[in-house]
Amino acid sequence: MSLLPILRFPDPRLKKPSAPVRDIDENIIRLTRDMAETMYEAPGIGLAANQVDVQKQVIVMDTSETRDRLLVLINPVIVESDGTQVGEEGCLSVPGIYDKIERAERVVVRHLDLQGQEKTIAADGLLAVCLQHEIEHLHGKIFVEHLSRLKQIRIKAKLAKQAKITA
Ligand code: NI
Repeated sequence: MSLLPILRFPDPRLKKPSAPVRDIDENIIRLTRDMAETMYEAPGIGLAANQVDVQKQVIVMDTSETRDRLLVLINPVIVESDGTQVGEEGCLSVPGIYDKIERAERVVVRHLDLQGQEKTIAADGLLAVCLQHEIEHLHGKIFVEHLSRLKQIRIKAKLAKQAKITA
């Protein structure tokens, strides 16, 4: 297993939509292991493959407090959503930035597991937020794009400054 470098907003590669996975082969299995290790190490509660520069519809998540409930979703699709909730979100591709985002309160997500079996998750609360946030990544969208243009400009400036300090 190995840690993968995480792309940072506003890297244009984060805007590319991801392709569905056709074969869950060794490469995909290795990718999900590396992504899980990268997410736990960061630490974060979710990571989409395009955040590590792989344009495939793969997500890893763990919203448990015990950090031992890894979810791996291949080709996830939101098939139902309702209600609204507003919560503070952050993103491993936008380090140090948190803001309130409105999301659906409940979602139903259909996906494949690592064995290629079709599965359905019905989620609310934080798990529902995380699913929406990560699936949005696969469509080339980052949570800060829900914020005002002015806020986005400020965030870009802040991240550019951080990058200079750490470079
Ligand atoms: Ni994110």
